[in-house]
Amino acid sequence: MGGVCRTGAFRAEAHGPLARYCQPGQIMAAVALVRRVREEGRAITEADLDGIRNICRCGTYPRIREAIRAGAERM
Ligand code: FES
Repeated sequence: MGGVCRTGAFRAEAHGPLARYCQPGQIMAAVALVRRVREEGRAITEADLDGIRNICRCGTYPRIREAIRAGAERM
């Protein structure tokens, strides 16, 4: 896992100018997901992303998914 902070890897494009109330939980879930799929030696799937159940009041789920995929590349 490179030199980028694990939480910082997800932060930039995750929520833009929105409320970000959900951000800490989304980041924790994302880091755990990336660690798990790496330990299993595979890439993140849509089913994996469906398994993240953190609620975002702003409904930014597509952006959260994009951020997880982009952040995983930086971790
Ligand atoms: S960005 Fe507002 S709660 Fe998720």
